[in-house]
Amino acid sequence: MNFSGKPSEAQLAPFVGKDVLDIAQFSKEDLEVVMHLAAHYEEALTNKKRLYDMDGKIMASLFFEPSTRTRLSFEAAMQRLGGNVITVAEAAGAQSSSTAKGETLHDSIKVINDYVDVIVCRSPIKGARLEVANAADIPVINGGDGAGQHPTQALLDMYTIFKEKGSPDGLTVALIGDLKNGRTVHSLADALSLYDVKMIFASPEELTMPEEIITSLRGKNIEVEEVHDLDTACRRADVLYMTRIQRERFTDPAEYERVKDLFIMTGRHVRIFKPGAIVLHPLPRVNEIEVEVDAYPGAAYFRQAANGLPVRMALLAMITGNVK
Ligand code: CP
Repeated sequence: MNFSGKPSEAQLAPFVGKDVLDIAQFSKEDLEVVMHLAAHYEEALTNKKRLYDMDGKIMASLFFEPSTRTRLSFEAAMQRLGGNVITVAEAAGAQSSSTAKGETLHDSIKVINDYVDVIVCRSPIKGARLEVANAADIPVINGGDGAGQHPTQALLDMYTIFKEKGSPDGLTVALIGDLKNGRTVHSLADALSLYDVKMIFASPEELTMPEEIITSLRGKNIEVEEVHDLDTACRRADVLYMTRIQRERFTDPAEYERVKDLFIMTGRHVRIFKPGAIVLHPLPRVNEIEVEVDAYPGAAYFRQAANGLPVRMALLAMITGNVK
């Protein structure tokens, strides 16, 4: 990766005032401007430089579904940029906001829109990103909408691939686990399709990648192979992107129990990896990567989570027009 310095004003101008809802809105050039600015902020963080890019600005952090990394890295990003944060973090059945009184997401966003400069929102409902965007005049960022999209995760995943492997070009990337319900893999597949990659989709038969995503990838001349075992992916891939089985998306608990332990990466898998292969995971992990794999030098999932901070700093500053 060679993203030294800062993107130019001309490169940043198209992002000002924009929402971040779906990874498909990013061209390859757009994605690389985000990577470039993230590298700039990462350098500032490494050098312990105090930043004031978002001085006097407020971010609303609205999480209607559990989160550790997305919420806290966005909140840390805003504070590292000198800005402030207000938060609603609540799960169904444990609300403290007026959602508990029956207020719609639309009405909540319409009100919060007048309190802050940027909104980050996670909802359990696929497609809620559009309701949020329609209700707000200020820039909004989709922090994950049900089994739909998780665009900022895909951007930090791509940043990690650039850092760990130099470039996505020429790589075989295996997306593994719950490809039906995992929003991170839906977004990442789209981001990867901007590059010269081959994709392997490894999942239980019940949890395959949605057909419309596969059709869209093949329409872009991306080579896609579907397999139903972990070993094939481990032998062939340069990047192994593990995901957990998304228990919260299952309506039948017995079905979850049946599939939950089918794809577990262990030390035996590490021994059949291609040389230089890396392992990513959006986290949280449940049991799909055994702890013994953490000692493998290419186990990059905690480094990946750390990359969320500079990437989210870049997004906040870009879309609010506050890159200083
Ligand atoms: N990767 C991710 O979205 O993690 P959280 O659910 O903890 O935000």
